[in-house]
Amino acid sequence: MAKSKKVVLITGGSSGIGLAIAKKFLDNNYEVVVTGRNLSKLQKVKTDLPTIHIEQGDVCNEEDVKALVLKMEQTFGGIDVLFNNAGIMNLVDAGNEQNQLERQFTEIEINFHAPIRLLHYFLPQLKKSKKGTVINTSSGLAYVPFAQAPTYSGTKAALHFWTLAIRPQLRRHGIKVVELLPPVVDTKLAKDADLKDDNLKPMAPEKMAAIFWKDFTNGKEEITPGLSKQLKLMSRLAPKFIFGQLNKQPIPKNK
Ligand SMILES: NC(=O)c1ccc[n+]([C@@H]2O[C@H](COP(=O)([O-])OP(=O)(O)OC[C@H]3O[C@@H](n4cnc5c(N)ncnc54)[C@H](OP(=O)(O)O)[C@@H]3O)[C@@H](O)[C@H]2O)c1
Repeated sequence: MAKSKKVVLITGGSSGIGLAIAKKFLDNNYEVVVTGRNLSKLQKVKTDLPTIHIEQGDVCNEEDVKALVLKMEQTFGGIDVLFNNAGIMNLVDAGNEQNQLERQFTEIEINFHAPIRLLHYFLPQLKKSKKGTVINTSSGLAYVPFAQAPTYSGTKAALHFWTLAIRPQLRRHGIKVVELLPPVVDTKLAKDADLKDDNLKPMAPEKMAAIFWKDFTNGKEEITPGLSKQLKLMSRLAPKFIFGQLNKQPIPKNK
């Protein structure tokens, strides 16, 4: 099937950063497919943005991912951009044996295993595209860990290193690899973590999406909006200092 528009698939595109970025791709003549687990959230997105495509599915579920790959092939002849954005953040006190271990393992599944799974199954479509792109949403916390979210910080550092490592490998197949490392952004994830007492002023998702779009279309491979740029620099110049600044309160409230 001949394609007139490029196709971007954004996991976790039903809210927050993914949704704000989905609008940028829509405004720029892409076919945009967003995914998430909660169907009513996706249906609301479809009502607000009728030209968007929605697909319900869990990035941790192998069968959901395989069905999504098939659907993209049948509907569009394949995707051109895989945007691994779905993610969750748990606040955890590793010094408390009442921690729910399963929640942390699920966090690793969603934030780190799923991007590897999605790339694996979408690779033939990205190769076929000839202008394939993989975009991974990690976090500024990939540079400096946030003690209140130790497992989250670990997943984002792992995603960052994986992204660096696959970039030269995929380049050989004409696939570009981009990483978005957001600072604190005003989304459900940040609200649930209740970070306001930690002196971290959230950025509006629309502002984040505007910075992403400018850098992405300028060909930047590592996109560091707002505070993330400082975290990157400081993690090299003064790692202990910046770790201390970010972690004055290492234990989450109510844990
Ligand atoms: N907000 C921040 O401060 C911040 C900072 C740095 C990085 N990030 C990263 O940005 C990404 C987006 O987060 P956000 O802040 O925009 O949060 P959000 O508004 O809570 O969005 C998360 C999205 O991921 C989806 N999702 C979660 N688990 C999923 C699963 N197992 N399968 C499929 N979809 C799933 C959610 O939909 P359902 O719940 O319906 O599945 C939702 O669409 C995440 O990777 C996050 O780690 C966020």
